[in-house]
Amino acid sequence: MNQDKLYKVTEGDINTSTEREQWNSKQTHAATQLLLEKDARYFLHQSMSTPCLDVLGNCEGPYIENLEGKKYLDFHGNSVHQVGFSNPLLVERLTEQLQKLTFSTRRFTNELAVTFAEKLASLTPGDLNRVLLTPNGSSAVGIALKLARVVTGKFKVMSFWDSFHGASIDAISAGGEAVFRKNLGPLLPGVERVPPPVTYRGIFEGNENKCLEYIEYVFEKEHDIGAFIAETVRNTDVQIPSANFWKQVREFCDKYKALLIFDEIPIALGRTGKMFAFEHYDVTPDILCLGKGLGGGIFPQAAIVTRDKYNRFGAISLGHYTHEKSPLGSLAALTTIEVIEKEGLLKKVVEDGKYMEERLLCLKEKYNCIGDVRGIGLLWGIELVKDRKTKEKAFEEVEKIMYQCLDKGLSFKISSGNVIQLCPALTINRVELNTALTILEENIATI
Ligand SMILES: Cc1ncc(COP(=O)(O)O)c(C=O)c1O
Repeated sequence: MNQDKLYKVTEGDINTSTEREQWNSKQTHAATQLLLEKDARYFLHQSMSTPCLDVLGNCEGPYIENLEGKKYLDFHGNSVHQVGFSNPLLVERLTEQLQKLTFSTRRFTNELAVTFAEKLASLTPGDLNRVLLTPNGSSAVGIALKLARVVTGKFKVMSFWDSFHGASIDAISAGGEAVFRKNLGPLLPGVERVPPPVTYRGIFEGNENKCLEYIEYVFEKEHDIGAFIAETVRNTDVQIPSANFWKQVREFCDKYKALLIFDEIPIALGRTGKMFAFEHYDVTPDILCLGKGLGGGIFPQAAIVTRDKYNRFGAISLGHYTHEKSPLGSLAALTTIEVIEKEGLLKKVVEDGKYMEERLLCLKEKYNCIGDVRGIGLLWGIELVKDRKTKEKAFEEVEKIMYQCLDKGLSFKISSGNVIQLCPALTINRVELNTALTILEENIATI
């Protein structure tokens, strides 16, 4: 598949399209040009990264800023910016901590890591109170997959096609996106992928129950699946299963003795209006994976939280990552959670979510190129189509809109080739939110 076709099926916009070339050719700032060239000269090129768009000099609140001082409202943010970039309290606390304990050598612990684990245990329901810390989301997913194997004695995993659970070899084995797996096999054996519960289009169009039937069919036929891994709410193209969906999957997992792993790496910590997305459903996972914004957008920090009864494998190293009990990462996470709680961000996100819904549904009324609008809290997807009946994806149009918006100071990503994904800092104020939506509307109107 050539690069231009590949972007139609990836979770982010690609960096080798004609639109990207045109965007880059407009860069006239000398220092920016030089750094973009050097970036392309020294970094290994890879999809969705190098070659890059622009060079950043600063980030603050909901904004990133380039070397020329141009600010972009960052509705992408790699999903790390729940409490805004360079959150002042976080910067102050981390700066202070740099004068104190900065690293925790293995075999020793520290108060910040212990307090952080205790806090996570207190936030999660029931017996979800055992924690393992790790620096990044992919390794949290790896730990979850290992734990499921030792708990169940079964190595097989069920996951969704098109899912993303990280870029390490175990995570891409469980994931279902071609751009991450192409030419990289053989991957982990025993991964059974099922089509996701997408109801706007595709084989389960209008009928989520068919997806449930499919899942149970695979559980029954395989009989030895040890884990089901999924994002509770799919982050990139914003797919939100019904309340019944996860209840049913939970029942299947219990019936077929598989662990339910919720990957909430990009969507926890208030993004959906609750601390964890699974709180929207009457369901508790066996393992919860957290990451990204857990480190406040400053420090790489991830974690798994699991049931007390799985604390039986003290003789095996399930994690063993160097920066495991980082005092800085733990402080960053504790402060992030504190900001979410003290600033009432969950309530704010619910209100912002209602506002987003109103505005985006108005856009859908006005513009025929919008086929679907879906979202929750401050996570929204706008699916652009050439025709509402055929639902043909508007690949070229959405890319044009993205670069026009970048020009005007709004950054977001495109998912699945035609979905505008909107994911701002949760601290964004109404004026900024309004500015972003106005830029978006003005540019949708141009096509
Ligand atoms: C759903 C999901 N899981 C796992 C990961 C991997 O996290 P990390 O990049 O920190 O390894 C990501 C990152 O984008 C993600 O979106």
